[in-house]
Amino acid sequence: MTRRVLVVDDDAAILEVLEMRLAAMGFEVLATRDPQAALGAIDGSRFDLALLDLRMVPMDGIRLMEALHARQPRLPVLIMTAHGTIETAVDAVQRGAFDYLTKPFVRDELRAKIGRALATRRWARDRERLLAVGQTLSSSGVMERVLDAVAQATVETTEAERCVVFQLQHGRLLPMASAGSPPRSWPDLEAAARAAMDKGLPATFPGSDNGSIVAAPLLVQRGPAGALVIETPARVEPTEDDLELLALFSSQAAVAIRNTHELERLRSGALAALGRMATQVAHELKNPLAGLRLYARHLEQRLVRNGDTEGATLAQKISGTVDDLAAVVNEITAFGRPPELHRGLVAVHALLDECVSFAQARISTEGIGILRVYDPAVPAQALLDGRELRKAFLNLILNGLESLAPGGRLTVTTGWAADTRALTITIEDTGAGMSEETLARIFDLFFTTKPQGTGLGMAIARSVVDLHGGALTVDSVAGRGTRVVARLPLEPVPAREGTA
Ligand SMILES: Nc1ncnc2c1ncn2[C@@H]1O[C@H](COP(=O)(O)OP(=O)(O)OP(=O)(O)O)[C@@H](O)[C@H]1O
Ligand SMILES: [Mg+2]
Repeated sequence: MTRRVLVVDDDAAILEVLEMRLAAMGFEVLATRDPQAALGAIDGSRFDLALLDLRMVPMDGIRLMEALHARQPRLPVLIMTAHGTIETAVDAVQRGAFDYLTKPFVRDELRAKIGRALATRRWARDRERLLAVGQTLSSSGVMERVLDAVAQATVETTEAERCVVFQLQHGRLLPMASAGSPPRSWPDLEAAARAAMDKGLPATFPGSDNGSIVAAPLLVQRGPAGALVIETPARVEPTEDDLELLALFSSQAAVAIRNTHELERLRSGALAALGRMATQVAHELKNPLAGLRLYARHLEQRLVRNGDTEGATLAQKISGTVDDLAAVVNEITAFGRPPELHRGLVAVHALLDECVSFAQARISTEGIGILRVYDPAVPAQALLDGRELRKAFLNLILNGLESLAPGGRLTVTTGWAADTRALTITIEDTGAGMSEETLARIFDLFFTTKPQGTGLGMAIARSVVDLHGGALTVDSVAGRGTRVVARLPLEPVPAREGTA
């Protein structure tokens, strides 16, 4: 790609010489005597370098440089003068010039300084980028904050007006973080993100007001997890360099996202282990506590009989404290579990329909098929806890839908075995399935493989089915899908209630 150089000097002869030399060096040159024309040019497109004469009227080189920098902040500028003193050189550099050239030009000096200005520009950008990414990688590990840092760093290291990080969630592209000015058109940015994700490569699209949109996919593990999208103003035309930079950046961002995922998984793993331990400890405490309470009551009664009121009061305090402890233990073991069932007449198929339509509204993966295969032999109404079962089935259906890629299918089947009075509800998906490792842990409290998951759904579903005296079984093949079967024994509905 040809690099573009802007040259401004009020001396026509010098302008001509420079134009020729720079063209011979392979640059595309815009040479002008008019500072206003230079400003107009940079409003229209981007330059890689500017050579400005120091003494010009009405606008001198330093003021022109500042005006140019207001429009293109990182434009390397070489200030030229015939009357160079060390003071003016220092002043120019302090105010943002890259270097200083004395007229008449020594051919090699011109070439060397231009070469250095162009190389340093890249180097400075890369250094800034690395710094920003380094900070991102070492930041807190909370996903939202990592993405914010990525967006911020992108805006700071490129000449973008804004940056939005999209993340794929439940098949939906959601803007997770943004930096810079607010976007003019979300759909344009989202469409660019999608296109880049489909392509698996950074791509450029036309943006609003003649600007450009550049999107780079965030490749995490197997596929794209989102995209980093920047929008540049009209005068900044993204070069191959920019695309490369963005690709590099997005791959670094993907590393940060992956690390955060790992960290979150680690945390949820630790939480799950803690949850398991708490439940086990509570369980172990339950029986001894019940014994302790019994002994304390005996002691209290005996002391009362013997007329030892002081002792009896002490014994009472012991049993009171034991009761408190037992309540705490109950709370821990019953975590996520309904304390008891409130059975009422439930129309099973209607309840399933309700769960399906609610789950559907929460999912926007395209082209998903939902099939219902209801056995007409299933009793129209059954004595169940509708509220708890709704929670359980909603979660099972959501899990199924969440696992589906576009074009996937979820099937809800019911069956009735009259001989055993057993109702089976099968929720089957053609989704991602699970590894054996995941399958072994799905009922653990807080176990989740989803960035926004709480990891409670399966544990709740199983305890609800258990409380109904039923059983929940899960079969899954990674890459093929999952089948969850809830088997519920139905108690006969008393005639009185059946007709109510
Ligand atoms: N149908 C399914 N297909 C693939 N994986 C599943 C399915 N159902 C459950 N899982 C796995 O089991 C894990 C635990 O599921 P669970 O419903 O308990 O929590 P979650 O869905 O991650 O979070 P939430 O609390 O929001 O439901 C999931 O993260 C997922 O890895
Ligand atoms: Mg779930």
